Amino acid sequence: MAVSDPTVTSRFHFSREMIAGPIYRKYEKAIRKMWSVEDIDFGQDALDWERITPEQRTGLLGVTVRFLAGEQAVTDELVPMLAAAHRLRRFDWTMFLATFLMEEAKHAEFFMRWHERVVGVLDPEEVARHFLVRGKTVDPTGRFTVRDVMYEALPDYGGRLMEAVHSGTDAEVERAFVQFSAAYNAFVEGVLTMPSYEIVIDTTERWDAFPALNRGFRLILSDEGRHITFGTMACRILLEKDPSYEDAVHEVFDAYRGNIVGLVEYQKAVPDLDLDKYQTMKVRHYRNRCREMGVAPDETLIEQILDPSIDFVVGVEAG
Ligand SMILES: [Fe+2]
Ligand SMILES: [Fe+2]
Repeated sequence: MAVSDPTVTSRFHFSREMIAGPIYRKYEKAIRKMWSVEDIDFGQDALDWERITPEQRTGLLGVTVRFLAGEQAVTDELVPMLAAAHRLRRFDWTMFLATFLMEEAKHAEFFMRWHERVVGVLDPEEVARHFLVRGKTVDPTGRFTVRDVMYEALPDYGGRLMEAVHSGTDAEVERAFVQFSAAYNAFVEGVLTMPSYEIVIDTTERWDAFPALNRGFRLILSDEGRHITFGTMACRILLEKDPSYEDAVHEVFDAYRGNIVGLVEYQKAVPDLDLDKYQTMKVRHYRNRCREMGVAPDETLIEQILDPSIDFVVGVEAG
């Protein structure tokens, strides 16, 4: 038998070690857990929309419209991670990311359908009217600024990762990957949006309404669990190679500190919720993400999240 030609060998990516590994197993799980928006019945939600008060409608839409935009943004911003997985020759990451990208597209589809079937809005100018504008959330003490993570951090760190993919060394790609994943999976998916999911689930349960919204959020949340732990596990794998990448994680949480310490406008839009619960939850998620990545949590950040004197003023007005 001929000795295998390395050029030909390099065309095959599977190995026994890889398919027994944690990232490949996440891919298998994602395939097993596949669900379809078409199987969700929006009928009861449409009836519930007719019976709630105008104040309840505004509050709920403040959160759901944010998700409608957010899921489109994360779908659109994932490409740098795929490019990096390819560049780093990690085919199991590419396979998992294929399910990840499909799921973000499906989450966007879910919110598009919910708004269309339940609220009767779909075109950009119809939904944009309900988007709560960021510039209206301020810290009265002036200590913190609330920036736009979704539309600033993700394209920014994503752009840097693409640059590294095109012309950086492997180490530069890895560092930029850790930074992008810290922003995308750990910060946005893993801490910042977690209270919003809970806010919507709690609201549907308190109002005993919107079963499709409740079901969709639960399905999305179980997908998100895989996205988050993929990102934190990938960071951990890279940090084990080079512990100096830990700085890249802290840089992200530091740059967007203001977004995490207080609740922002859309998270305060539903009346009568116990908001302290969501701050405690953020701390728990932040600690979990740090543990998963293998980085030391920033205790000052935790104190600031729990500090009741840090409370942002929200001028709740739709754009
Ligand atoms: Fe999503
Ligand atoms: Fe996600």
